[in-house]
Amino acid sequence: SVDSSIESERTLAIIKPDGVSGNHTNSIKETILNNGFKITEESFIQLDEDRVKSFYAEHSSRSFFPSLVQYMISGPMLIMVLEKGNAIADWRALIGPTDPLKAKVTHPHSVRAICGLDLQKNCVHGSDSPQSAAREISFFFERTSSGHVSKHDEL
Ligand code: TYD
Ligand code: MG
Repeated sequence: SVDSSIESERTLAIIKPDGVSGNHTNSIKETILNNGFKITEESFIQLDEDRVKSFYAEHSSRSFFPSLVQYMISGPMLIMVLEKGNAIADWRALIGPTDPLKAKVTHPHSVRAICGLDLQKNCVHGSDSPQSAAREISFFFERTSSGHVSKHDEL
């Protein structure tokens, strides 16, 4: 096809509890679609403590970890798989720096600048590498050998 030279890539996006409760879901999805991503999977979920600890295992020794875990279980989130060429880097660029207060200064049009509340309640997640994307997508969406989708958190 005409687009065969553009290799499509998948990344995991999350609208975190403050994004959902702050009613940012629709505008963020609009931003995603306006920037050429396809949303190929989506699900509202609420994680429990063990699942969040596993998702954010790389941060388990950080001082902010216990607070981060409590925040991430505090309410429903929307998890999505986004697909397009260069999806991983492009979604990270669109969401902006980790700290929304810094993003407001340096990347004022980024999702975190517009929707994020503070360094912890920063509204959205994006995979940071191909390895992370593969792990995170399968963490939420891959099928088990029995054929069941392992979305046991689904609301
Ligand atoms: P990190 O992977 O460093 O950021 P990003 O989400 O941009 O990849 O951190 C994971 C999440 O942990 C981050 O989105 C918000 C939270 N966090 C804190 O609460 N305090 C902190 O000091 C940091 C660095 C992150
Ligand atoms: Mg990260």
